[in-house]
Amino acid sequence: MKKIILVFALSFSYLGFGQGNTHTQVGGKFEGLAMTPPMGWNSWNTFGTNIDEKLVKETADIMVSSGMAAAGYNYIVLDDGWMAKERDVNGDLVADPVKFPNGMKAVIDYVHGKGLKFGLYNCAGTQTCAGYPGTRGYEYQDARFYAKLGIDFLKYDWCNTQGITAKEAYTTMSNALKTAGKPIVFSLCEWGDNQPWEWGKPVGNLWRISGDIYPCFDCEFKHPENWSSWGFMKIVEMRKDIRKYSGPDHWNDFDMMEVGNEMNDTEDKSHFAMWCMMASPLFAGNDFRKISKETLAILTNKELIAVNQDKLGIQGFKYSAEDGLEVWVKPLSDGNWAVTFLNRSDVAKKINFDWKKHTIKDADFGYEADFNKTVFKLKDLWKNKETGNTKKNFVADIASHDSVTLRLIL
Ligand code: GLA
Repeated sequence: MKKIILVFALSFSYLGFGQGNTHTQVGGKFEGLAMTPPMGWNSWNTFGTNIDEKLVKETADIMVSSGMAAAGYNYIVLDDGWMAKERDVNGDLVADPVKFPNGMKAVIDYVHGKGLKFGLYNCAGTQTCAGYPGTRGYEYQDARFYAKLGIDFLKYDWCNTQGITAKEAYTTMSNALKTAGKPIVFSLCEWGDNQPWEWGKPVGNLWRISGDIYPCFDCEFKHPENWSSWGFMKIVEMRKDIRKYSGPDHWNDFDMMEVGNEMNDTEDKSHFAMWCMMASPLFAGNDFRKISKETLAILTNKELIAVNQDKLGIQGFKYSAEDGLEVWVKPLSDGNWAVTFLNRSDVAKKINFDWKKHTIKDADFGYEADFNKTVFKLKDLWKNKETGNTKKNFVADIASHDSVTLRLIL
Protein backbone atom coordinates (compact mmCIF):
# COMPACT_ATOMS: atom_id res chain seq x y z
CA MET A 1 0.00 0.00 0.00
CA LYS A 2 2.82 2.36 0.95
CA LYS A 3 4.39 1.69 -2.44
CA ILE A 4 1.19 2.49 -4.27
CA ILE A 5 0.80 5.77 -2.40
CA LEU A 6 4.41 6.70 -3.24
CA VAL A 7 3.99 5.91 -6.94
CA PHE A 8 0.76 7.89 -6.96
CA ALA A 9 2.43 10.85 -5.23
CA LEU A 10 5.40 10.83 -7.58
CA SER A 11 3.32 10.65 -10.74
CA PHE A 12 1.13 13.42 -9.39
CA SER A 13 4.19 15.59 -8.92
CA TYR A 14 5.61 14.58 -12.32
CA LEU A 15 2.38 15.56 -14.05
CA GLY A 16 2.79 18.81 -12.27
CA PHE A 17 -0.52 19.33 -10.59
CA GLY A 18 -0.73 22.12 -8.09
CA GLN A 19 2.08 24.10 -6.54
CA GLY A 20 4.75 23.56 -3.92
CA ASN A 21 3.50 21.04 -1.44
CA THR A 22 2.57 18.15 -3.75
CA HIS A 23 6.17 18.01 -4.99
CA THR A 24 9.12 16.01 -3.96
CA GLN A 25 11.23 19.11 -3.56
CA VAL A 26 14.88 19.03 -4.45
CA GLY A 27 17.04 21.70 -2.91
CA GLY A 28 20.14 23.59 -3.91
CA LYS A 29 21.07 25.19 -7.21
CA PHE A 30 22.54 23.31 -10.14
CA GLU A 31 26.20 23.29 -9.19
CA GLY A 32 29.09 23.96 -11.52
CA LEU A 33 27.22 25.74 -14.31
CA ALA A 34 29.21 28.98 -14.00
CA MET A 35 32.72 28.18 -12.83
CA THR A 36 33.92 31.34 -14.61
CA PRO A 37 31.76 34.47 -14.95
CA PRO A 38 29.00 33.82 -17.52
CA MET A 39 29.34 35.77 -20.80
CA GLY A 40 26.69 36.68 -23.32
CA TRP A 41 24.22 39.28 -24.51
CA ASN A 42 21.09 40.64 -22.82
CA SER A 43 18.38 42.60 -24.61
CA TRP A 44 17.41 45.09 -21.88
CA ASN A 45 19.94 47.94 -21.99
CA THR A 46 19.32 48.79 -25.63
CA PHE A 47 15.94 47.35 -26.51
CA GLY A 48 13.82 47.39 -23.35
CA THR A 49 10.65 45.49 -24.22
CA ASN A 50 11.06 46.04 -28.00
CA ILE A 51 12.32 42.55 -28.69
CA ASP A 52 11.29 39.99 -31.27
CA GLU A 53 12.29 36.86 -33.14
CA LYS A 54 14.16 38.77 -35.85
CA LEU A 55 16.30 40.58 -33.28
CA VAL A 56 17.22 37.34 -31.52
CA LYS A 57 18.16 35.57 -34.74
CA GLU A 58 20.20 38.49 -36.05
CA THR A 59 21.96 38.86 -32.71
CA ALA A 60 22.77 35.15 -32.63
CA ASP A 61 24.07 35.28 -36.22
CA ILE A 62 26.35 38.23 -35.44
CA MET A 63 27.47 36.73 -32.13
CA VAL A 64 28.97 33.91 -34.18
CA SER A 65 30.10 35.75 -37.33
CA SER A 66 31.72 38.70 -35.48
CA GLY A 67 33.94 36.54 -33.29
CA MET A 68 32.02 37.35 -30.09
CA ALA A 69 31.15 33.67 -29.61
CA ALA A 70 34.74 32.60 -30.22
CA ALA A 71 35.81 35.16 -27.58
CA GLY A 72 33.53 33.43 -25.05
CA TYR A 73 30.12 35.13 -25.30
CA ASN A 74 27.64 32.30 -25.51
CA TYR A 75 24.36 33.22 -23.77
CA ILE A 76 21.58 35.13 -25.54
CA VAL A 77 19.23 36.33 -22.81
CA LEU A 78 15.82 37.86 -23.50
CA ASP A 79 14.94 40.23 -20.70
CA ASP A 80 11.55 41.70 -19.80
CA GLY A 81 8.91 41.95 -22.51
CA TRP A 82 9.05 38.50 -24.14
CA MET A 83 5.68 37.37 -22.75
CA ALA A 84 2.07 37.94 -23.63
CA LYS A 85 0.18 39.97 -21.04
CA GLU A 86 -1.80 36.93 -19.83
CA ARG A 87 -1.03 33.31 -19.00
CA ASP A 88 -2.95 30.67 -21.00
CA VAL A 89 -5.96 28.71 -19.70
CA ASN A 90 -3.64 26.24 -17.96
CA GLY A 91 -1.77 29.03 -16.24
CA ASP A 92 1.31 28.58 -18.44
CA LEU A 93 3.38 31.51 -19.61
CA VAL A 94 3.01 32.40 -23.29
CA ALA A 95 5.49 34.12 -25.58
CA ASP A 96 4.07 37.29 -27.12
CA PRO A 97 2.50 35.99 -30.36
CA VAL A 98 3.23 39.18 -32.29
CA LYS A 99 6.89 39.43 -31.28
CA PHE A 100 7.43 35.67 -31.52
CA PRO A 101 4.96 34.42 -34.17
CA ASN A 102 6.60 30.98 -34.32
CA GLY A 103 6.68 30.58 -30.54
CA MET A 104 9.68 30.65 -28.24
CA LYS A 105 10.75 27.06 -28.92
CA ALA A 106 11.56 27.93 -32.55
CA VAL A 107 13.72 30.83 -31.38
CA ILE A 108 15.53 28.67 -28.84
CA ASP A 109 16.15 25.94 -31.41
CA TYR A 110 17.64 28.55 -33.72
CA VAL A 111 19.98 29.86 -31.03
CA HIS A 112 20.99 26.36 -29.97
CA GLY A 113 21.57 25.50 -33.62
CA LYS A 114 24.22 28.21 -33.68
CA GLY A 115 26.03 26.50 -30.81
CA LEU A 116 24.85 29.17 -28.35
CA LYS A 117 22.83 29.04 -25.13
CA PHE A 118 19.55 30.76 -24.39
CA GLY A 119 18.09 32.56 -21.39
CA LEU A 120 14.79 34.11 -20.36
CA TYR A 121 13.65 36.58 -17.72
CA ASN A 122 10.91 36.64 -15.13
CA CYS A 123 10.23 38.08 -11.75
CA ALA A 124 9.62 36.80 -8.23
CA GLY A 125 6.66 39.17 -7.88
CA THR A 126 3.11 39.15 -9.19
CA GLN A 127 4.20 41.06 -12.29
CA THR A 128 7.53 41.79 -13.96
CA CYS A 129 8.92 45.31 -13.75
CA ALA A 130 7.37 46.07 -17.15
CA GLY A 131 3.98 44.65 -16.16
CA TYR A 132 4.03 41.13 -17.63
CA PRO A 133 2.94 38.00 -15.69
CA GLY A 134 5.23 37.39 -12.72
CA THR A 135 6.05 34.00 -11.25
CA ARG A 136 4.73 34.45 -7.70
CA GLY A 137 2.55 31.42 -6.96
CA TYR A 138 3.59 29.70 -10.20
CA GLU A 139 7.20 28.81 -9.31
CA TYR A 140 7.03 25.07 -9.97
CA GLN A 141 4.81 25.44 -13.02
CA ASP A 142 7.11 28.06 -14.57
CA ALA A 143 10.20 25.98 -13.78
CA ARG A 144 8.65 23.05 -15.65
CA PHE A 145 7.78 25.38 -18.52
CA TYR A 146 11.42 26.54 -18.78
CA ALA A 147 12.74 22.98 -18.48
CA LYS A 148 10.47 21.82 -21.27
CA LEU A 149 11.45 24.74 -23.49
CA GLY A 150 15.08 23.85 -22.88
CA ILE A 151 16.38 27.22 -21.71
CA ASP A 152 19.85 27.41 -20.16
CA PHE A 153 19.65 30.59 -18.05
CA LEU A 154 16.96 32.34 -15.99
CA LYS A 155 17.23 35.94 -14.82
CA TYR A 156 14.81 36.40 -11.93
CA ASP A 157 13.90 39.96 -10.99
CA TRP A 158 12.40 41.58 -7.88
CA CYS A 159 9.54 43.93 -8.84
CA ASN A 160 6.05 43.70 -7.27
CA THR A 161 7.20 41.52 -4.39
CA GLN A 162 5.33 43.15 -1.50
CA GLY A 163 4.98 40.78 1.42
CA ILE A 164 7.61 38.21 0.48
CA THR A 165 11.23 37.92 1.57
CA ALA A 166 14.03 37.69 -0.98
CA LYS A 167 15.85 34.71 0.49
CA GLU A 168 12.65 32.64 0.62
CA ALA A 169 11.40 33.68 -2.81
CA TYR A 170 14.70 32.99 -4.55
CA THR A 171 15.14 29.71 -2.67
CA THR A 172 11.67 28.58 -3.76
CA MET A 173 12.48 29.28 -7.42
CA SER A 174 15.88 27.65 -7.12
CA ASN A 175 14.27 24.52 -5.68
CA ALA A 176 11.63 24.60 -8.41
CA LEU A 177 14.28 24.71 -11.14
CA LYS A 178 16.21 21.90 -9.50
CA THR A 179 13.05 19.83 -9.19
CA ALA A 180 12.17 20.41 -12.85
CA GLY A 181 15.50 18.78 -13.58
CA LYS A 182 16.94 20.76 -16.53
CA PRO A 183 20.23 22.44 -15.54
CA ILE A 184 19.58 26.19 -15.78
CA VAL A 185 21.93 28.93 -14.60
CA PHE A 186 19.97 30.91 -11.99
CA SER A 187 20.64 34.64 -12.05
CA LEU A 188 19.30 36.53 -9.02
CA CYS A 189 18.32 40.12 -9.74
CA GLU A 190 17.15 41.78 -6.53
CA TRP A 191 19.54 44.74 -6.87
CA GLY A 192 21.50 43.99 -3.71
CA ASP A 193 18.64 45.23 -1.52
CA ASN A 194 18.66 42.14 0.69
CA GLN A 195 22.37 41.30 0.63
CA PRO A 196 22.09 38.27 -1.70
CA TRP A 197 25.85 37.76 -1.38
CA GLU A 198 25.23 36.62 2.22
CA TRP A 199 22.70 33.88 1.37
CA GLY A 200 22.82 33.41 -2.42
CA LYS A 201 25.61 30.86 -2.80
CA PRO A 202 23.48 27.70 -2.44
CA VAL A 203 20.60 29.39 -4.28
CA GLY A 204 22.00 30.82 -7.52
CA ASN A 205 25.05 31.11 -9.76
CA LEU A 206 25.18 34.92 -9.86
CA TRP A 207 23.42 37.83 -8.20
CA ARG A 208 23.03 41.49 -9.05
CA ILE A 209 24.56 43.69 -6.39
CA SER A 210 23.09 47.07 -7.33
CA GLY A 211 20.25 48.90 -9.04
CA ASP A 212 20.43 49.30 -12.80
CA ILE A 213 23.49 50.51 -14.63
CA TYR A 214 23.40 53.80 -16.56
CA PRO A 215 25.66 54.51 -19.55
CA CYS A 216 27.97 57.02 -17.89
CA PHE A 217 31.30 56.92 -16.10
CA ASP A 218 30.43 58.02 -12.58
CA CYS A 219 26.97 59.63 -12.57
CA GLU A 220 23.77 58.94 -10.70
CA PHE A 221 20.66 59.14 -12.87
CA LYS A 222 17.60 59.91 -10.74
CA HIS A 223 14.34 58.58 -12.14
CA PRO A 224 11.18 60.59 -11.41
CA GLU A 225 9.66 57.57 -9.57
CA ASN A 226 12.29 57.92 -6.86
CA TRP A 227 14.94 55.37 -7.84
CA SER A 228 18.38 55.76 -9.35
CA SER A 229 20.47 54.14 -12.06
CA TRP A 230 24.20 54.20 -11.67
CA GLY A 231 27.27 54.99 -13.76
CA PHE A 232 29.59 52.02 -13.92
CA MET A 233 32.16 53.40 -11.46
CA LYS A 234 29.36 54.12 -8.98
CA ILE A 235 28.50 50.39 -8.99
CA VAL A 236 32.15 49.38 -8.62
CA GLU A 237 32.66 51.80 -5.76
CA MET A 238 29.40 50.79 -4.05
CA ARG A 239 30.30 47.08 -3.99
CA LYS A 240 34.07 46.92 -3.88
CA ASP A 241 33.99 45.62 -0.30
CA ILE A 242 31.92 42.47 -0.83
CA ARG A 243 34.56 40.72 -2.91
CA LYS A 244 35.03 37.85 -0.51
CA TYR A 245 31.49 36.65 -1.32
CA SER A 246 32.20 36.27 -5.05
CA GLY A 247 33.87 33.31 -6.72
CA PRO A 248 33.44 30.33 -9.04
CA ASP A 249 29.74 29.49 -9.47
CA HIS A 250 28.58 32.35 -7.16
CA TRP A 251 29.37 35.68 -8.75
CA ASN A 252 28.75 39.27 -7.76
CA ASP A 253 27.01 40.57 -10.90
CA PHE A 254 27.84 44.20 -11.67
CA ASP A 255 25.01 44.34 -14.31
CA MET A 256 24.85 44.10 -18.07
CA MET A 257 27.43 46.23 -19.82
CA GLU A 258 26.84 49.56 -21.53
CA VAL A 259 29.87 49.19 -23.81
CA GLY A 260 28.93 50.49 -27.28
CA ASN A 261 25.99 52.52 -26.02
CA GLU A 262 26.27 56.14 -24.93
CA MET A 263 29.84 56.51 -23.66
CA ASN A 264 32.90 57.21 -25.77
CA ASP A 265 35.46 54.51 -26.58
CA THR A 266 37.80 55.67 -23.80
CA GLU A 267 35.11 55.27 -21.14
CA ASP A 268 33.93 52.01 -22.72
CA LYS A 269 37.47 50.64 -22.45
CA SER A 270 37.63 51.51 -18.75
CA HIS A 271 34.13 50.10 -18.20
CA PHE A 272 35.13 46.80 -19.81
CA ALA A 273 38.46 46.69 -17.97
CA MET A 274 36.71 47.21 -14.62
CA TRP A 275 34.12 44.50 -15.33
CA CYS A 276 37.04 42.18 -16.08
CA MET A 277 38.90 43.26 -12.93
CA MET A 278 35.76 42.73 -10.82
CA ALA A 279 35.27 39.20 -12.24
CA SER A 280 31.76 40.32 -13.13
CA PRO A 281 29.57 38.34 -15.50
CA LEU A 282 30.09 39.88 -18.95
CA PHE A 283 26.78 40.49 -20.71
CA ALA A 284 26.99 42.85 -23.67
CA GLY A 285 24.00 45.20 -23.76
CA ASN A 286 24.46 46.87 -27.13
CA ASP A 287 22.93 46.45 -30.59
CA PHE A 288 25.16 43.98 -32.42
CA ARG A 289 23.67 44.99 -35.76
CA LYS A 290 25.26 48.42 -35.37
CA ILE A 291 28.43 47.44 -33.54
CA SER A 292 31.48 49.55 -34.46
CA LYS A 293 34.85 47.93 -34.95
CA GLU A 294 36.11 49.80 -31.87
CA THR A 295 33.31 48.39 -29.69
CA LEU A 296 33.90 44.91 -31.07
CA ALA A 297 37.62 45.21 -30.34
CA ILE A 298 36.87 46.25 -26.75
CA LEU A 299 34.39 43.45 -26.09
CA THR A 300 36.58 40.78 -27.65
CA ASN A 301 39.93 41.75 -26.15
CA LYS A 302 41.24 38.27 -25.39
CA GLU A 303 43.75 39.36 -22.76
CA LEU A 304 41.17 41.28 -20.75
CA ILE A 305 38.70 38.42 -21.07
CA ALA A 306 41.39 36.09 -19.73
CA VAL A 307 41.63 38.33 -16.66
CA ASN A 308 37.86 38.10 -16.20
CA GLN A 309 37.74 34.36 -16.82
CA ASP A 310 40.78 33.51 -14.71
CA LYS A 311 40.10 30.25 -12.92
CA LEU A 312 40.88 31.63 -9.44
CA GLY A 313 37.72 33.69 -9.86
CA ILE A 314 38.77 36.48 -7.52
CA GLN A 315 37.14 39.90 -7.63
CA GLY A 316 39.81 42.62 -7.74
CA PHE A 317 40.16 45.44 -5.25
CA LYS A 318 41.25 49.05 -5.04
CA TYR A 319 44.86 49.12 -3.95
CA SER A 320 45.34 52.89 -3.86
CA ALA A 321 43.81 56.20 -4.86
CA GLU A 322 45.61 59.48 -5.08
CA ASP A 323 44.55 62.67 -6.73
CA GLY A 324 41.98 60.91 -8.97
CA LEU A 325 44.41 58.23 -10.09
CA GLU A 326 43.42 54.79 -8.85
CA VAL A 327 45.24 51.47 -8.85
CA TRP A 328 43.05 48.35 -8.96
CA VAL A 329 44.57 44.88 -8.63
CA LYS A 330 43.35 41.30 -9.10
CA PRO A 331 45.21 38.12 -8.19
CA LEU A 332 45.35 35.63 -11.05
CA SER A 333 46.28 31.98 -11.27
CA ASP A 334 49.94 30.93 -11.66
CA GLY A 335 51.04 33.73 -9.33
CA ASN A 336 50.18 36.42 -11.88
CA TRP A 337 48.29 39.66 -11.19
CA ALA A 338 46.27 42.12 -13.22
CA VAL A 339 46.72 45.82 -12.44
CA THR A 340 44.54 48.65 -13.76
CA PHE A 341 45.64 52.27 -13.50
CA LEU A 342 42.43 54.29 -13.83
CA ASN A 343 42.16 58.04 -14.21
CA ARG A 344 38.88 58.97 -12.54
CA SER A 345 39.56 62.69 -12.73
CA ASP A 346 38.54 65.17 -15.42
CA VAL A 347 42.11 65.99 -16.44
CA ALA A 348 44.98 64.00 -17.97
CA LYS A 349 47.41 62.47 -15.46
CA LYS A 350 50.88 61.05 -15.58
CA ILE A 351 51.61 57.89 -13.65
CA ASN A 352 55.06 57.05 -12.47
CA PHE A 353 54.65 53.87 -10.45
CA ASP A 354 57.69 52.63 -8.55
CA TRP A 355 56.82 48.97 -7.95
CA LYS A 356 59.59 48.56 -5.39
CA LYS A 357 57.85 50.97 -3.06
CA HIS A 358 54.79 48.73 -2.96
CA THR A 359 53.76 45.41 -1.48
CA ILE A 360 50.27 44.42 -2.56
CA LYS A 361 48.37 42.35 0.00
CA ASP A 362 45.03 40.72 -0.61
CA ALA A 363 43.68 40.38 2.92
CA ASP A 364 40.49 38.54 1.83
CA PHE A 365 42.16 35.78 -0.18
CA GLY A 366 45.70 35.75 1.21
CA TYR A 367 47.71 36.67 -1.89
CA GLU A 368 50.72 38.97 -1.80
CA ALA A 369 53.05 40.58 -4.34
CA ASP A 370 56.28 41.96 -2.88
CA PHE A 371 58.14 43.68 -5.70
CA ASN A 372 61.40 43.74 -3.79
CA LYS A 373 61.38 39.95 -3.66
CA THR A 374 59.71 39.11 -6.96
CA VAL A 375 60.21 40.55 -10.42
CA PHE A 376 57.25 40.34 -12.80
CA LYS A 377 57.26 40.90 -16.54
CA LEU A 378 54.66 43.44 -17.62
CA LYS A 379 52.22 43.13 -20.50
CA ASP A 380 49.96 45.98 -21.60
CA LEU A 381 46.66 44.25 -22.33
CA TRP A 382 45.17 46.88 -24.65
CA LYS A 383 48.34 47.19 -26.69
CA ASN A 384 48.94 43.42 -26.42
CA LYS A 385 52.61 44.20 -25.89
CA GLU A 386 55.27 43.40 -23.30
CA THR A 387 56.42 46.54 -21.57
CA GLY A 388 59.45 45.88 -19.36
CA ASN A 389 59.29 44.55 -15.83
CA THR A 390 58.73 45.62 -12.26
CA LYS A 391 62.40 46.53 -11.70
CA LYS A 392 61.72 49.81 -13.45
CA ASN A 393 59.00 52.38 -12.78
CA PHE A 394 55.92 52.09 -14.95
CA VAL A 395 55.43 55.47 -16.62
CA ALA A 396 52.41 56.46 -18.73
CA ASP A 397 50.15 59.37 -19.58
CA ILE A 398 46.50 58.59 -18.94
CA ALA A 399 43.72 60.75 -20.35
CA SER A 400 40.67 61.60 -18.26
CA HIS A 401 38.54 58.45 -17.67
CA ASP A 402 41.09 56.32 -19.50
CA SER A 403 42.92 53.36 -18.01
CA VAL A 404 45.86 51.06 -18.58
CA THR A 405 45.62 47.39 -17.65
CA LEU A 406 48.73 45.31 -17.21
CA ARG A 407 49.25 41.61 -16.62
CA LEU A 408 52.08 40.98 -14.21
CA ILE A 409 53.69 37.73 -15.26
CA LEU A 410 55.91 35.63 -13.01
C1 GLA B 1 14.92 45.68 -13.50
C2 GLA B 1 16.26 44.98 -13.70
C3 GLA B 1 16.78 45.27 -15.10
C4 GLA B 1 15.78 44.81 -16.13
C5 GLA B 1 14.43 45.46 -15.88
C6 GLA B 1 13.33 44.86 -16.75
O1 GLA B 1 15.06 47.04 -13.49
O2 GLA B 1 17.18 45.38 -12.73
O3 GLA B 1 18.04 44.66 -15.31
O4 GLA B 1 15.67 43.41 -16.07
O5 GLA B 1 14.00 45.29 -14.53
O6 GLA B 1 12.08 45.43 -16.52
